[in-house]
Amino acid sequence: MDTLSIAQAPLHWEPHFHLTPGHGWMNDPNALCQFRGTYHFCYQYGPDWPNSDTKWWGHATSPDLLTWTRTEPAMAPELPEERDGVWSGCALVETGPDGTERIRVFYTAHLVPEGAVPHTAYDHVAHQVATHSSDGVRYQDRHVILSPADYPAEVCAHVRDPKVWREADGTWWMLLGTRLVVDESRERDTGAVMLWSSPDGEAWTFNRFVRPMERLGYMWECPNIVRLGGRDYLAVCPQGMPHEELRWQNRWQAGYFPLAGRMQQADTVDAASFTEWDHGFDFYAPQIFVDQQGRSILVGWMGTFDPSYSSAPEGLAWCHCLTLPRELSLATDGSLLQWPVRELDARRGTPIQLAPNVPLTCANMHADILLKDIRGTGALALGTTEEGELLSLAFNGERLSLVFGQTDAAKAAALGRTHRTIACSALTDLRVVVDGSTVEVYANRGAQVFSTRWFPAGNQLVVNSSLTAQGVAYPL
Ligand code: FRU
Repeated sequence: MDTLSIAQAPLHWEPHFHLTPGHGWMNDPNALCQFRGTYHFCYQYGPDWPNSDTKWWGHATSPDLLTWTRTEPAMAPELPEERDGVWSGCALVETGPDGTERIRVFYTAHLVPEGAVPHTAYDHVAHQVATHSSDGVRYQDRHVILSPADYPAEVCAHVRDPKVWREADGTWWMLLGTRLVVDESRERDTGAVMLWSSPDGEAWTFNRFVRPMERLGYMWECPNIVRLGGRDYLAVCPQGMPHEELRWQNRWQAGYFPLAGRMQQADTVDAASFTEWDHGFDFYAPQIFVDQQGRSILVGWMGTFDPSYSSAPEGLAWCHCLTLPRELSLATDGSLLQWPVRELDARRGTPIQLAPNVPLTCANMHADILLKDIRGTGALALGTTEEGELLSLAFNGERLSLVFGQTDAAKAAALGRTHRTIACSALTDLRVVVDGSTVEVYANRGAQVFSTRWFPAGNQLVVNSSLTAQGVAYPL
């Protein structure tokens, strides 16, 4: 296990509850599960960042989804097919051949052959691999279950991120993200998912493609399934969506399609029904798992690839973290709400009232701020005693915006983060969780969410709200 991760960076940037890699790079959450009561989270881990982007799997455990103990990495490249990285995948808990529970894992092996041209439809080779663990820490018997020769002719080399689950009849199902080739261009190739089935998780048969009725990007990564309220939701991460003023503002997107029924009955999905999970600067590649209490829990990568802003300021020995685990629930219109797992409520200290236009100074950079019965328009601003206001969440009756309002132009340029805006006609409540260098905003019971990193110089949070509302801030 390793300890604190900061080289020279201020300690107040260190989150208390968000999982970070400690050292090196982190991207997607992988193989999230609860095994014998303990939560196990793996993640895409770059131990040699920034010198190499070969991915391993980092691993951490938690009794409560908030207190994390990092262990040795779960996996480094081992098979010839994964020489250039152990890419994303999922876990499920099953009864092994000896009658005891074990974690079965499926993931993508990444190989870049000599001479491959980067950023093309055939820039690497992807195999799908299975392995298992009896203690949640060490994995054994890694072996390839799907090779490029098994894939349908319509797809290019981009086939990855298996999501595997079992139905009540014992059948195993797998979703794989892919790119259907039209002419090998990012302008015309089409993102889609493949469904595969298996009697045992070893021998897999291609079942069908699930395609968008209208093209939605050139590649879909990280497929997932959510099962709530008797229907399925297909979650994917489309790459290549054009930026619009009020949506798709990050480089790549993450969201879901509500399906009419079960995943296995879908052939197409309606691109118009695609709903983004999170509208902030730092969110991608979420994974959803069901814990032993039956909660559907979403965890995102609190970062993105190639942003115009930094997520590892000078001195920070690690880059990126995961979001808080968020319980998913159904809104009355069938959309999905996200809310920090209730374990966070137990970590709150004595509440302090937050009155409109009366700045509230916190002891440190960790707080859970709640506003309810919001009436009218206004903004909730966050800053520090040292710097004044830095970040605000503003509502004007039609739009909801997360805005970095740096008065210092040099700092603003360094931050690169400016604003993210969505259409929103009503604001009834807001929850803002500040945890060191992370900020997560939940509006309207979690119908709209914004996640961002921030790196203030000051270490005492100041909250100031002009919204007419019942407000309270809990120290965390
Ligand atoms: C998404 C992703 C996955 C891939 C992994 C590699 O962020 O590109 O599709 O498996 O990251 O690190």
